Amino acid sequence: MKFKQEIANLMAKNMPIDTKELESYIEIPKDSKNGDFAFPCFRLAKELKKAPQQIANEIKDKMEIDNKVIEKVEVLGGYLNFYINKQLLTKKVLTQIENNEQYGKSKIGEGKNIVIDYSSPNIAKPFHIGHLRSTVIGGALYNIYKYLGYHTTGINHLGDYGTQFGKLIEGYKLWGKEYHIEKDPINELTKMYIRINQACKEDEKVLEQCRENFKKLEQKDEDCTKIWEKFKTLSLKEFQKVYDLLGSHFDSWNGEAFYSDKMQEVIEILEKTGKIIESQGAKIIDLEEQGIDTPCIIEKSNGSTTYATRDLAAILYRSRTYDYDKALYLTSYEQVLHFKQIFEVAKLLGMDEKYIKGLNHVPFGMVLLPTGKMSTREGNIIKLEDLLTEAIQRAKKIIEGKNPSLESKEGVAKKVGIGAVIFNDLANSRIKDEVFDWNQILNFQGETGPYIQYTYVRTKSVLEKAGYLPKIEQIKEENLLDEYSQNILKRIDSFEDVLIQVTQKDEPSILARYLIDLAKAFSSFYNENKIITEEKELQDARVYLTASVGKVLKIGANLLGMEMPDKM
Ligand code: ARG
Repeated sequence: MKFKQEIANLMAKNMPIDTKELESYIEIPKDSKNGDFAFPCFRLAKELKKAPQQIANEIKDKMEIDNKVIEKVEVLGGYLNFYINKQLLTKKVLTQIENNEQYGKSKIGEGKNIVIDYSSPNIAKPFHIGHLRSTVIGGALYNIYKYLGYHTTGINHLGDYGTQFGKLIEGYKLWGKEYHIEKDPINELTKMYIRINQACKEDEKVLEQCRENFKKLEQKDEDCTKIWEKFKTLSLKEFQKVYDLLGSHFDSWNGEAFYSDKMQEVIEILEKTGKIIESQGAKIIDLEEQGIDTPCIIEKSNGSTTYATRDLAAILYRSRTYDYDKALYLTSYEQVLHFKQIFEVAKLLGMDEKYIKGLNHVPFGMVLLPTGKMSTREGNIIKLEDLLTEAIQRAKKIIEGKNPSLESKEGVAKKVGIGAVIFNDLANSRIKDEVFDWNQILNFQGETGPYIQYTYVRTKSVLEKAGYLPKIEQIKEENLLDEYSQNILKRIDSFEDVLIQVTQKDEPSILARYLIDLAKAFSSFYNENKIITEEKELQDARVYLTASVGKVLKIGANLLGMEMPDKM
């Protein structure tokens, strides 16, 4: 039984509105004083041209309520507030979580295809902290969609093509021997890139040479291809270190270069629409009528293709290969314009309407370091691998201080350090800029990854102390009717709903906040209620609830991409 559904059913009996629609209006109030579920009447008020409060009262008067399900209904402001029968809620939650290691998993996504384009770093450039956010947010969405039954494909759209490779190839041809590319590929290539950029600024001829190189690469010139492949292999080896630390997984590594032979078709289709115009020798599509000031460049004046053209080819390819219902792109908001442009131009490709509707840029905010923003060209870089290693070391120090006798500190420190970084990326609504502050992200008492892990470990140690896990038949609901237990039970009940909300808004922070709330609810429960007590029956119930909290915290954190230590 789903309470939202139940409430919607009750309401629908007296209303000309579809149950599903009613259900979609129902919210879970932030403050449990306002009930367990609430129905806001503001939208109906507009439709029916009546005051929300009046509507709420009318609905309430007509509703026949079974108090074994709903204890009471109240009208407050423009809301109907529903209070679920505590006994029933308790029984329902305990039964559902019993023996269910995949609590919250569902099939609602069955038959739907989701493509998630995330991480997507650039070859021969540092894997920067923005790519970390993309990797972490995209990874969490990937896990959650999958858990809800969607057929999910994760794509690492590597930046392995484009004019910058013409530059890198030129740098390599000129000074390749001076750099230790095999030993420290990204750093050395970055240095070379800075140098060649400088040379281009000083000498137009060098720039011309670079452009020529990229053209040759596009024409599959053997020499240029060989150098490019070397850059790619070495870079991927470096990136893999970060992916290993984060536990990232991709189903496809088709990057920009993969589309090199698929762009011609796109250009031909676009040519046929008559929308391509020549501007200073380049082929562009004007988007002013669509409210976009900057035109989309399809082909540069020297005949080279662009980032945009490759993305257009990718859209076409993904529609055919994955038949996607939703295609998500995880990048920082710096690329909002780019995606607006290509989604607009994609309408000209003659694809089914479904594929246009499914395109979704999922932008996120910047990560600000105390030293400001980072840029490759000026060479102001933090290496991500170093950052993750530092997180682990810092976590280890804290653990050594708190729990010197802990076994396998290394393994725990890795889970805590990486978990802290991951959670920090997900804790706030993604569009917000985030400041990366070590003390904050590793604070065990703050709203952090380590706090969630710490709470989980606490549930484990309670279970260890109890020394047994009670059977569900032993649990009497009467022992869990207090405020603190109920707060936990209500949260556990809404877990699947939270996951669904994440996919509706492509916002993993909803799950991150939820886990913080659940952990806090458990902390209050732990502080206010004696779990291990003389009263066996009460203890059984509380131990059982504790185990349930641990289970949900673990499933939730794993979905975000965090690992849980058993001790810390
Ligand atoms: N490589 C790009 C960057 O680092 C991100 C690619 C995002 N995906 C895409 N299909 N454009 O900025």
